[in-house]
This record gives sequence, structure tokens and C-alpha cells, in this order.
Amino acid sequence: MNTLPQKIAIVTGANNGIGFETTVGMVEAGYHVIMACRSQEKAEAAKVDVTKRVPSASLDILLLDLSDLRSVRGFAEAFRARYPKLDVLINNAGILLYSAQTNGDGVELQFATNHLGHFLLTSLLIDLIPDAPVSRIVSLSSIAHKSASIHFEDLSCGGDGGTAYGQSKLACLLFGDELDRRLKAEGKVMKALSVHPGGSDSGLFNDMDEGQREAMKSQIAQLLHSNEEAAKPSLYAALSADVAGGDYYGPTGPEEMSGEVGAAERNPICGDLDVAQRLWRLSEDLTGQTFSI
Ligand SMILES: NC(=O)c1ccc[n+]([C@@H]2O[C@H](COP(=O)([O-])OP(=O)(O)OC[C@H]3O[C@@H](n4cnc5c(N)ncnc54)[C@H](OP(=O)(O)O)[C@@H]3O)[C@@H](O)[C@H]2O)c1
Repeated sequence: MNTLPQKIAIVTGANNGIGFETTVGMVEAGYHVIMACRSQEKAEAAKVDVTKRVPSASLDILLLDLSDLRSVRGFAEAFRARYPKLDVLINNAGILLYSAQTNGDGVELQFATNHLGHFLLTSLLIDLIPDAPVSRIVSLSSIAHKSASIHFEDLSCGGDGGTAYGQSKLACLLFGDELDRRLKAEGKVMKALSVHPGGSDSGLFNDMDEGQREAMKSQIAQLLHSNEEAAKPSLYAALSADVAGGDYYGPTGPEEMSGEVGAAERNPICGDLDVAQRLWRLSEDLTGQTFSI
């Protein structure tokens, strides 16, 4: 059992892009960070790089493949064996695909990875989170959620990867909002918040071919900011004393792609509680896990 006096955070997808910079920010803030990654090799290399930036960094690596529910359960068991509590959970990892793919259970891969894996992870760890104002669960959404809907009858969105990405990121935001409502209904003071990072040239676009990537960059390059800037909404949600449960933060510059962190715009569908509750029930069915709240 770990007896570290520090506060403990998990960052999923900590080895690259925004998750890497979020990890740097959390260790700078004095947290012991568990890097929840699917590749030991990449995680080890990232741990070395974080430590170069922050020599005092306190880090651990635990393997997690969010697309595989068995792996999520294994991660939660391994975490519980090592740590008595969790202060901050940053559900950061994500994929963007341009083709139709499913996980081993036949569920659309972006919905499975970006939403369902984090839904199950949160459900399996929430009882370890102290009910305190500094305790946080942070969900990563995207500007792409704004034009999306949940295709309850066809989560594959007809095989359109881009549509399925938007759906998965809407699911992340609907989950964060519904989780916060449920926490408040139980009188809890821990906070569930959501953020989006704006736009940054991370590994997220690796599924694009070179031509698509260059075209995308030439259209929006001037709007993108660095991964370090893109991590700021997550770090604000995780660390600021000035936030409330249910808040949604992102960059406030042109087209919400970069700029100072502030309140972000939601898709109006987020106000439809029936959709959020239907997604919650579907997520419990697909993960086989009933949430304790
Ligand atoms: N960058 C943007 O412009 C942008 C815009 C809107 C929202 N976002 C969101 O920001 C978050 C971070 O993305 P990013 O831009 O930093 O992308 P990234 O550089 O590709 O990083 C994504 C991270 O998620 C991990 N990951 C992917 N699939 C996983 C799985 N099955 N299990 C565990 N980890 C997995 C990746 O691991 P590997 O290295 O092993 O692949 C990587 O560490 C995502 O939720 C994304 O949707 C990004």
C-alpha cells in the first residue's frame, strides 16, 4: 500500500499530447500522478520526459487500455491494491478515427474508448475519491461535440468516423454533466467538471493520411495553440479553487480554438436530461456496471 502524503491524480493518456502536458502541470502542482497508458514503453519514455521538465516529479505508471473493459477493470484493481484514495481523475485519453472500427465487444471504437472506458473507470474508482471540494473528476470533450448527437439506434453512425468522434465527445460532456447532477443530488461536494482543449497539433490526428493532415493544418494552423496551452483548461478544472461542479471550460479565443481559459459553449442538447439519462443507462448496460450514485 502506498503511503505517500501527497494528493493523488490519475491522468489517462498521459504519455502524449495534452495528457502529457496535463501530467507536467499536475506534478508541478505537487500531485503524485499515475500515468494511465496503454503502452508501457511509451509511458516509460514519457515519464523520463516529464521528469526532465520537473525533476521533483512523483510518477507511477499503470497500464490501461480504455477500449477493453477487462483492461479497465484490471487497472482499477491494480490502482486499489496500491493506493488508498484518489483526489483527481482526469479522463483525458482519446482517439479520432476516420474509418469504421469496433472494439472486441463490437462497440464503435471511439465511443468505447473515449466514453465507455472512462465511464467504467470512474464508476470503479469513485468510492476512493474523498468527498472534498478539491476532489475532481474532469471529462475531456471537444468543439466537435457541438454539432453531434447520440445515435442511440446506431452507435457506429453509419460507419462515419468523424460523426462518431463528435458523438463520443458529446457523450463525455453529457457524462460529466450528469455525474455532477448525481453528486449534487447526494449532497456531495466533490466536483465533476468538463473541459475542451481547443485545437492543438497532437497525436490525435495520426489516423489522417499525410494529405488530409496537411490540408487540415493549412486551413486551421493559425487557430491552433500548443499542447501546453491546450492542457490549461484541464489543469484549471483540476486545480482551481474558483470552479463549480458542472462547469465546462475551454479556450475563449477565436472559434474557441485557443486563448485564455473561460466558460465554454455547450451543444443545446446538453440541456435535455432525458438524453443524458438514456446515455447513462446505455453506458451501464454496455459496461455491465451499475454506478453507485
Ligand atoms: N488536440 C486537439 O486538437 C483536441 C481537440 C479536442 C479534443 N481533444 C481531446 O483531448 C484529449 C487528448 O488528446 P490529444 O489531442 O492529446 O491526442 P494524443 O496526442 O493522440 O493523445 C491521446 C492519448 O490517449 C491515449 N489513448 C488512445 N487510445 C487509448 C486507449 N485505448 N487506452 C488508453 N489510452 C489511450 C494515447 O495513447 P497512445 O500514445 O498509446 O496512442 C495518448 O496517450 C482527447 O480526449 C481528445 O479527444 C483534443
